[in-house]
Amino acid sequence: MKVFTSDVIIVGSGIAGLMAAELLSFDKNVIIITKSDVVHSNSIMAQGGIAAVVDSEDDWRDHFLDTLRAGCYYNNEDVIELLVKQGAEMIRKLEGLGVRFDKGKDGKYLLGQEGAHLKRRILHAGGDATGKELTLKLVSRVKQNVPIHDYMDAIDLIIENGRCIGVICLDENQEYVHYFAPHVVLATGGAGQLYSVTSNNSAITGDGMALAYRAGARLADMEFVQFHPTMLVENGKGAGLVSEAVRGEGARLITEDGKLLMEGKHELGDLAPRDVVAREIFEKVSNNQKVFLDISSIDHFEQKFPSVSSLCINAGVQIDKGLIPIAPGAHFVMGGVETNMQGKTSIEGLYAIGEVANTGVHGANRLASNSLLEGVVFANELAREIINTDDSLMKTNVKPIACIDKRYSQSLPAKDDVRAIMSKYVGIVRTKENLLKALKWFDKYSTLIRSKQVYQFSREEHTIRNMLTVGYLITASALCRKESRGSHYRIDYPLTSDHWLNQTVYCSMSKQEPYVRNKKDYVSNFVI
Ligand code: SIN
Repeated sequence: MKVFTSDVIIVGSGIAGLMAAELLSFDKNVIIITKSDVVHSNSIMAQGGIAAVVDSEDDWRDHFLDTLRAGCYYNNEDVIELLVKQGAEMIRKLEGLGVRFDKGKDGKYLLGQEGAHLKRRILHAGGDATGKELTLKLVSRVKQNVPIHDYMDAIDLIIENGRCIGVICLDENQEYVHYFAPHVVLATGGAGQLYSVTSNNSAITGDGMALAYRAGARLADMEFVQFHPTMLVENGKGAGLVSEAVRGEGARLITEDGKLLMEGKHELGDLAPRDVVAREIFEKVSNNQKVFLDISSIDHFEQKFPSVSSLCINAGVQIDKGLIPIAPGAHFVMGGVETNMQGKTSIEGLYAIGEVANTGVHGANRLASNSLLEGVVFANELAREIINTDDSLMKTNVKPIACIDKRYSQSLPAKDDVRAIMSKYVGIVRTKENLLKALKWFDKYSTLIRSKQVYQFSREEHTIRNMLTVGYLITASALCRKESRGSHYRIDYPLTSDHWLNQTVYCSMSKQEPYVRNKKDYVSNFVI
């Protein structure tokens, strides 16, 4: 059996994992483990950009309030403050690493706008290829100092005396590989692949969340799954994301009979928060009606949105006709492995950053383009924390352990079976009845979901186990939350997020006045 030891093991190679590796590698030995190719992540596909306060007309308090409103006042306000205050510094840091953000002839950043932002504050790189620019730049730096073990499936965490000391993996040849380190960082992303239509990369199956759950870590807010309103659709299947930045540049959502979909639905119209727009589209699509993005008002579309344009061309959509067929798709999980601001989980030695983590920053609905920012900000916090930890004594304890793998007698469902259940019963619109149907289905696999046993599974079967685990957690959490808030919408608790957004915002927009009120101010008339 192969064994590796290091100071830090990072599981995942999206922006959070890469940035953490970049920052840690000067002081620590780091190994990155990644499920497929190192550049195969959600981050590389990110079209939207990175939200940051870099304009003199903008203020961190405004970014704070937009994040809080989109999150339906469910966010952890201290964490939002940390996130938005660090925006400009992180942009400088990324530029220091060689990332080039788009600028106009005057040398100023070209700032875009997306849903629920009241100001233009989204930086892009290469038009709609921001994730690609960031990821490739980081990979080219990180791989000079950090061994990257690709095509390596992390299947379980190694816990000894309540402390996480490593990860058990399966390599491409189905051989176990054990990694030991005093610091194990989950940076595995979310769980979009639990749904039939998703913007997520095929590797994003909730693995980090499932591993943490089996190890006994605390997870939170799993019911909050964001659906992006505008996935390009081809024959009813998702064919890639059409960035919200397209609406930021003037595209309008229209129905098949040419009506403006968001007219009179929300004060922010087409740029209303994602949950609001996704539900409007979902209602039409569920009634077999088509919804389009009318892009005819955008000049030089292909130049501004090269990634979207090539997706359209591949899907046979003619951009010059001005209409892109869209439907909502699973995009981002706000919940995850509960952490503090430095990425520490409830298990010593185990950390989580990026989408797999639940810092509370996004509340019930993530604000557009806050996720790349989250990745770099919390990677930075984590790196500082680990660098300042004296781990010299922890290192001596590592020792290989045998994998006692058992056969699992029941047959497993296919990935598409999990997706069908989640899409039908635990999607954009939820009811108690449907959630119970899903729970009953997941219950058939309860032994597998609850057991800590390492089973004799193929890599594919381990992934299915993780999907079952996370699907179950989302369903059970959705049943527990007896309200509609942000991305969690229950017909049987018909209070929409409009309620939250239309409330008077008591926070002051003035720079001189206090900006934070206790969350209770907003939830006083609410029964949870
Ligand atoms: C988008 O481009 O619309 C996605 C960006 C994000 O999810 O933040």
